[in-house]
Amino acid sequence: MKKVNIGILVSGSGSNLQAIIDRIELGCLRAEIKVVISNNPDAYALERSRKHRIPATVIDHRAFCKREDFDRQMVNVLKSHDVELVVLAGFMRVLTPSFLRAFPMKVLNIHPALLPAFPGTHVQQKALEYGVKFAGCTVHFVDEGVDAGPIIIQAVVPVYDDDSADILSARILKEEHRIYPRAIELYAEGKLEVRGRKVMISGGAEGKLLPPLHNP
Ligand code: GRF
Repeated sequence: MKKVNIGILVSGSGSNLQAIIDRIELGCLRAEIKVVISNNPDAYALERSRKHRIPATVIDHRAFCKREDFDRQMVNVLKSHDVELVVLAGFMRVLTPSFLRAFPMKVLNIHPALLPAFPGTHVQQKALEYGVKFAGCTVHFVDEGVDAGPIIIQAVVPVYDDDSADILSARILKEEHRIYPRAIELYAEGKLEVRGRKVMISGGAEGKLLPPLHNP
């Protein structure tokens, strides 16, 4: 089976990037990371890319007056590396419609909440303040809304009375590292079919990766 060429956009630590690299290096994920792009020159994700000899480049959004110009530059770099699938991994900018037109239904994101609850930022803190008993993470296709596209996989974690936002974030992040590479695998294996808002996964329950009950 042919490998899918991916481009990964990052802004920070890049632990999700690392989880994807690890799955590829284990031979479980038929994908090749053609390029990593960071809008933040200080992102640790750049260091991780270099360690694994993955081409990495900085496109600093602050150097552009218009979001469209910043996005066009990213599209040019992604296309020049033959990227088929764009993976947002802790990328803290909202993409313009023109970026999404260049990669229609070919952009994935991971969000640290059970969408459609808690889109946006600081969502673990918001979930705690709301008093939810369960939290989690969501991998979804990106559309023009914020954290709004069709959902591919979710994983659930319990919330405990004495959780801080940091403790809950760490519990969720562990699940992110499990489901994001899996969602990319499903894409690479051609097992995802988008029907309106629904993403059908061929392979039944295995494809959906039902989460085990989680220990803190
Ligand atoms: C993750 O929680 C991700 O869901 C959110 O930002 C965080 C980035 O983590 N969008 P990392 O950079 O992958 O470590």
